[in-house]
Amino acid sequence: MTNQLRKPIRLGIVGAGRGKSYMGVSDSTGFKLVAICDTWEEKLEQVGRELNVATYVEYDQFLSHDLDAVVLCNYFHQHAPFAEKALLAGKHVMSECAACHTLAEGVSLARTVEQSGKVYMFAENYPYSAYNQEMRRLYQSGLIGEFKYGEGEYVHPDLAEVKLARSCGWNHWRNWIPATYYCTHSIAPVMYITDTRPVKVNAFVVPYDYDDPTQTKHVKRSDTSAIIMCRMNNDAVLKSLHGALRGHGNYVRIHGNKGLMENCRHGDKSRLRIWQEPWENDKQEKAEVVYKPNFTVAGDLARRTGHGGGDFFTSYYFAQAIHRQEQPYLDVYRGIDMSIVGILAWRSVLQDSMPITVPDFRQETVRQKYENDNWSPDPDRTDSNKPPSSILGNIEPTQTAKDLARNIWTNQGFDMDS
Ligand SMILES: NC(=O)c1ccc[n+]([C@@H]2O[C@H](COP(=O)([O-])OP(=O)(O)OC[C@H]3O[C@@H](n4cnc5c(N)ncnc54)[C@H](O)[C@@H]3O)[C@@H](O)[C@H]2O)c1
Repeated sequence: MTNQLRKPIRLGIVGAGRGKSYMGVSDSTGFKLVAICDTWEEKLEQVGRELNVATYVEYDQFLSHDLDAVVLCNYFHQHAPFAEKALLAGKHVMSECAACHTLAEGVSLARTVEQSGKVYMFAENYPYSAYNQEMRRLYQSGLIGEFKYGEGEYVHPDLAEVKLARSCGWNHWRNWIPATYYCTHSIAPVMYITDTRPVKVNAFVVPYDYDDPTQTKHVKRSDTSAIIMCRMNNDAVLKSLHGALRGHGNYVRIHGNKGLMENCRHGDKSRLRIWQEPWENDKQEKAEVVYKPNFTVAGDLARRTGHGGGDFFTSYYFAQAIHRQEQPYLDVYRGIDMSIVGILAWRSVLQDSMPITVPDFRQETVRQKYENDNWSPDPDRTDSNKPPSSILGNIEPTQTAKDLARNIWTNQGFDMDS
């Protein structure tokens, strides 16, 4: 049955910031948006009026609305407990990154998904750009042989003013999350293309830069960017780079033992470049091919959405999983795999980049070792062994940054006492 002939899946969305991207594609992917939830009342009411849907400030009340599925776009470090509550209330869940903020949360989330029998999808959108989908297709056709080395990059610098506007509040997660944690946009495409998972990490950070005004005019207390080296489960090596270095862009490069594929760094970056050694290529004059791949399904709808079409495909595959009553490709285990790399990478950084094993939470015997591992730099947690947010220790924002932040947040209608 096509999505058009099916009864729409009643959807609720938490978070009226990023959540708006999911609201925009709900109709075209087989959902009917019926309720939204946000603690920021002014923003909530405005979006609720625009879309004519029920609004809730309280998450528990929101869950009692007649919903089949929930999309979580609340704060980065608070998804796992929200996901568990929804699953136990009988809702299917799609969660924004990260899937979990601690290893203990990862353990508990994996167990709850299994216990609930509901669909859980990790909403990583970067694998679903046209060039990443094409690289997966080509990789599976055997074109470049077995995966040996890969790179994933998500580099996103911005003016301090722009960054402040999206991180309202001193303890907003974007202002203290260590540089390694936001790693799923760079790791997910490589895992998706090659069907591998990380088993070990060594990580490095480029420290906070006291000479960079995009940092010193901001109230963020963490480092500039992170480089995470992963050993994958087929022995390949992945280099993941993300953060606020100059040179905005998303790049993926996959070396196999028969060739290379990558998206282009010059001109239209959604073009794909494939290289095979002339002495190994049957048609020797075609060692290098560059072209712009297209989507194989739903291209017309996907092209209208953000993140290279990725914002369409997460909802599309979530709906498909619900209809088929089976877990999607980006299931809870893959979501946890890529999210805990960021946590373990921070441990590695703080121990002179030593290698750290990435546990596989598909196995209950492995989970038991981590079920009380609540290690977190969250300033709102009271644990005693709290790690710092920067490799340089505690960074105190400048007075200029604090004044600028107050101005920008006030203009946004953010209540600093909340
Ligand atoms: N995949 C992507 O391309 C992409 C892009 C942007 C953001 N994100 C992710 O989306 C999430 C949200 O990010 P954002 O940019 O909207 O910024 P954000 O994290 O500031 O926004 C979260 C929203 O959730 C609301 N919220 C917080 N606690 C809540 C609670 N207890 N109940 C109800 N609502 C609550 C906040 O008021 C806010 O409106 C983050 O996890 C971020 O990593 C992903």
